[in-house]
Amino acid sequence: MYNAAEIQQVAVIGAGDMGHGIAEVALLAGYRVHLYDIKQEYLDRGVKRIHDSLAKLAEKGKIDADTHERSRQLLHPTTDLSEAVSAAQFVIEAVPEVLKIKQEVFQKLDQLAPETAILGTNTSNMSISDIASVTRRPERVVGVHFFNPVVLMKLVEVIRGEKTTEETMQTACEVCRKLGKEPIRVEKDVPSFIVNRINAPIRVFLGAVVDAGEATPEEIDAMVRDAGEPMGPFELLDYVGLDITYDSMDYRRQVLDPEYGPFEALEKLVKAGHLGKKTGQGFYDWSNGRPAIDLSKKTDVISFRDIQFVKLNEATKLIEQGVSNAKDIDRAMVLGTGDRVGPIEACKDVPPEEIAERLDELASRYRKAILQPTALLRTGGYR
Ligand code: CAA
Repeated sequence: MYNAAEIQQVAVIGAGDMGHGIAEVALLAGYRVHLYDIKQEYLDRGVKRIHDSLAKLAEKGKIDADTHERSRQLLHPTTDLSEAVSAAQFVIEAVPEVLKIKQEVFQKLDQLAPETAILGTNTSNMSISDIASVTRRPERVVGVHFFNPVVLMKLVEVIRGEKTTEETMQTACEVCRKLGKEPIRVEKDVPSFIVNRINAPIRVFLGAVVDAGEATPEEIDAMVRDAGEPMGPFELLDYVGLDITYDSMDYRRQVLDPEYGPFEALEKLVKAGHLGKKTGQGFYDWSNGRPAIDLSKKTDVISFRDIQFVKLNEATKLIEQGVSNAKDIDRAMVLGTGDRVGPIEACKDVPPEEIAERLDELASRYRKAILQPTALLRTGGYR
């Protein structure tokens, strides 16, 4: 297997929202990058997005002219998978979040990429072990989960599958550092890893508030933005894509608990083909760019504190299961979502009994057992 210093050629499989961003940061780091997609049209779109983003960075003086030019030269788009991976030392897959598609891709990657190459998956929720199981090299398969927009968000969750070796974990972390990212290790292959898992009950909770007609998405977003966060939760869903959110919630419904499933308002929009920013309509109208949220409309039905309590509670589930620790969880939430502080730090001065009491109230008000406080939360042992 390669160590990070020997890696010079990277292949990115899928040129969509995540793939084009991952390819861009690899180019900026000086790697030769083969970018693959199944259709020329998808590839062209991805390449254009890379060129536009590089131009934006150059225009703002964030990269110099040489880096701009070198990054463009290092990019090799192709619709031939064999050409993309046959000399790659590190491959990152970013194809749609459907296990069957990912497994088909991994089977081919295993055949076409050098035996020694590391195969990374940018899955945002799915089991690394399930993806690795179709290859003859599960020890060199690893989760490398980036955040959207890749060029700006600093976090990569590096996830250990059941058979991933320590050497693979270390090389993946080192490559991520070279990409200008901060890797956070996820030591157990659990659904949705750290950041998406901690945000999972937030989607359920806020979706229940909206479905009950107690507050609108804009009123909730106004409350969250007013608290100083960079994006409101519904604006973020539109930004990432409602189809992606729907599929993630559906996956968690199947593998974690039915209560993690999609909420009605989301389901309606997805069925109508309103997928957020990319279609121009979601919870908001995006036809004139980012929605202007009127902060004076903020709801008082629920508070920003409630959101922090729900995140903290989910974090304690990950600590209880040995997936991560308090420090890494807080760091991941800040780097991956722009939250000003992580959930554990945010709640450190609030007595655990007060948090548990409010969570019990929310769990019964919205009939969601997944919001009930964990044993670790009740004892305050997370602090
Ligand atoms: N390329 C280059 N530059 C870009 C860019 C791109 N693609 N996109 C934005 N920028 C630049 C802008 O030009 C701007 O530059 P200046 O500051 O020099 O003017 C800067 O980045 C900031 O952008 P904006 O002013 O448009 O907006 P902002 O200040 O709100 O920052 C943001 C944007 C970083 C996205 C911020 O809103 C944020 O942190 N939002 C939360 C994002 C988040 O939670 N992401 C995680 C999503 S979940 C996920 O990804 C997991 C998954 O599995 C899908």
